[in-house]
Amino acid sequence: MSVVDELRLGVNIDHVATVRNARGGALPDPVRAAALAAHSGADGITAHLREDRRHIRDADIERLVREIEIPLNLEMAATTEMRDIALRHQPNACCLVPERREEITTEGGLNVAGDTSALANIIAPLKAQDIRISLFIDPEATQIEAAASLRADIVELHTGAYCHAHADGDTARVQSEVDRLQAAAALAADAGIEVHAGHGLCFETVGAITAMPEIMEVNIGHFLIGEALFTGLPSAIAEMRRCMNAGRALVGANS
Ligand code: PXP
Repeated sequence: MSVVDELRLGVNIDHVATVRNARGGALPDPVRAAALAAHSGADGITAHLREDRRHIRDADIERLVREIEIPLNLEMAATTEMRDIALRHQPNACCLVPERREEITTEGGLNVAGDTSALANIIAPLKAQDIRISLFIDPEATQIEAAASLRADIVELHTGAYCHAHADGDTARVQSEVDRLQAAAALAADAGIEVHAGHGLCFETVGAITAMPEIMEVNIGHFLIGEALFTGLPSAIAEMRRCMNAGRALVGANS
């Protein structure tokens, strides 16, 4: 299997639900978007069931599990309510994220190092059901060490600071964030943890992430759903894949 084959794209469909909920009805249907994403080459679907149900709802998760054939990565807060929902629906993976009601989106990584025993209570029953555990963390050594101590299968590195630096046009900050992400990816892979990345990625920013050989998957939502308004989801996914592969091609070129 080539490194490009190992590179997966998870499509986050939360914002299809955001648009649906703006009118309170059933349309647009996020599960239809997930089916179209699967048909268009997505390797997985990501959905975040927030505690306030502001976008994805419980019934969406039930339908995603029943109707979509590619793996579901259920993003959720590390609470017993969410743990029990995951145990009921058995997604392929649970990505534990920090959640604050007042935030617009997930603003920082999970403080795994500061909360290991509470997290262990959430993680153990999920792992016992063969649900893969992913921890959404900032690219910091202490968080990776804590994730390893909890036997997390995956860490998803928060790319938000890198994407903000890119949006600000601050090339020095972009480089230091890329360096931080690369060091964290290498540390996690050395600890035997699968490495994913996500948050805020777009066509322009994804390549520097997939150029890191340890990155196995990127999860992308807001930009792809926005782009789909103009070009359609299949075309947005195809272009994202092209950008991902262009980044990945640098791995061989640099070695
Ligand atoms: N990965 C995680 C863990 C997230 O919380 C989010 C946002 O819900 C994403 C990926 C996708 O981020 P974006 O919508 O900015 O592409």
